[in-house]
Amino acid sequence: MTTITVRQNGPYCFEGDDGKVVDWNGNEYQIAKRPFSLCRCGGSINKPFCDGTHSRNGFQAAEAAVPGSADKPAV
Ligand code: FES
Repeated sequence: MTTITVRQNGPYCFEGDDGKVVDWNGNEYQIAKRPFSLCRCGGSINKPFCDGTHSRNGFQAAEAAVPGSADKPAV
């Protein structure tokens, strides 16, 4: 089973062994390790993967699955 977790003010974290990431031509990106994260802030120099830049560029996002739900502390 695959789970994609939207991290608070961070990337999309992809957990699972059965997924792949492809570009617009259908070509598959090589994934060095699992789990992995996909950039949501636009600042990574290793797109589409997260390189940790979000923690330095002040990226903030407010989407939660249940609007108004109590936030857990950011990890
Ligand atoms: S979300 Fe981590 S570098 Fe963009």
